[in-house]
Amino acid sequence: MAIDYSEKIPNNVNLAGDRTLQRALEHWQPRFLDWWRDMGPNDFASSDVYLRTAVGVDAQGWASYGAVKMPDYRWGIFLADAIPDRRIGFGDSYGEPAWQQVPGEFRSQFRRLIVTQGDTEPASVEQQHLLGHTCPSLYDLRNLFQVNVEEGRHLWAMVYLLHAHFGRDGREEAEELLARHSGDADKPRILGTFNEPISDWLSFFCFTYFTDRDGKFQLKSLAESSFDPLARTCRFMLTEEAHHMFVGETGISRVIRRTLEVMKQLGTDDVQALRREGVVDLPLLQRYLNFWFSSSLDLFGSEVSSNAASSFANGIKGRPDETTQYQDHVCTDASYELETPDGSGGVKKETVGMRNAMNEVLREAYVRDCEIGLKRWNMLIQKAGHEFRLKLPSTRFRRSIGAWANVATDPEGRIIARETYERGLSDWLPSPADRTYVTSLMQRVTTPGKMAGWVAPPDRGINNLGLDYEYVRLS
Ligand SMILES: [Fe+2]
Ligand SMILES: [Fe+2]
Repeated sequence: MAIDYSEKIPNNVNLAGDRTLQRALEHWQPRFLDWWRDMGPNDFASSDVYLRTAVGVDAQGWASYGAVKMPDYRWGIFLADAIPDRRIGFGDSYGEPAWQQVPGEFRSQFRRLIVTQGDTEPASVEQQHLLGHTCPSLYDLRNLFQVNVEEGRHLWAMVYLLHAHFGRDGREEAEELLARHSGDADKPRILGTFNEPISDWLSFFCFTYFTDRDGKFQLKSLAESSFDPLARTCRFMLTEEAHHMFVGETGISRVIRRTLEVMKQLGTDDVQALRREGVVDLPLLQRYLNFWFSSSLDLFGSEVSSNAASSFANGIKGRPDETTQYQDHVCTDASYELETPDGSGGVKKETVGMRNAMNEVLREAYVRDCEIGLKRWNMLIQKAGHEFRLKLPSTRFRRSIGAWANVATDPEGRIIARETYERGLSDWLPSPADRTYVTSLMQRVTTPGKMAGWVAPPDRGINNLGLDYEYVRLS
């Protein structure tokens, strides 16, 4: 169904056909805009930003580009086209027709999941709301704002489901999504990583690489859901999400390229020499990767989880690419082997039912996806003739959730003494001095085509425009 832009709330769900729902969402809309004004990148409210807006849901040509002031962005409700006669792809109801309504017995489970997903979307906008002031270029500034408006739209996506399918509870949850705030002492966001401040662009690139990628995997598994409106919403969100990951991957690539350039000029990899030139030394980048990767791993939950098992059994949340990647979609007899700490400094092998290990299955798929960027980055370093290699720390390292929570390990995953761990942290995670240094690099650059000294220019501009295009017209 085509997107109707003549409506107050652009949508392709025939909102006009349900007056009660339409009124309820039109009532929520000004609250959303208030939130955007208070918590979003509001210092740039009157700037013209070269943004893409969804105008369709087909793979080809779904977006249009043009200068928009962010508060005028057309946030709306867009579901991917229905798959005719879609069947449930996994769990106890495998093969039955997909649900157009939420079955009563799974209502609270669905609601919790939608709220948790919905909570992350505005959280990231809040985390990033001051970043615009230190942009390394107008190109980057535009990308930040593109990510921000789309996270706002993802909030709309979840709020639509809450309003349309969860009655009064859903409407209350939609209000709460605007009442919790990232890092708030009294009403924080639900998940830990979304309360971490993102006050520099190196963190932003790491966040879009690692944390948005967690989002991608959550969306991929919800796109398999038996509840068809949820599946369709998530399928379309994934189209937008791809750009967020692009920002992360190319952002880190550009940091590395710039550093390699300066290493070549100076003929050294000496950290102090590089810092005097104002670039990000590779060990420093490694510590940022360690921080954001380990933090994002926790978002997948415990390795062994009865919650995950019942989510799978009830058809709520599948595995990413459930239909194409797996043979057994029921998983009642399958088992999964994992390694957990034995409590006395060693590691034991444990065999659990596959359904109970679904969080771990998802996390493994995520880790494999993360590796792809690292390979590319290491290729750059190798080509420049350096031995240094970036690597992902072990999934046991610095965990706060699951079997490895609060177990002292080094980045290789070896269990070590608590004191050794505490001492090691300054080598493994960004130190206060690292953060001060990174902050000192965050000088804003707003001349079209110019880049800050710590990051190389991207390969190309947005939507075939040149790099010197004025992607944000500051006012
Ligand atoms: Fe999102
Ligand atoms: Fe995202």
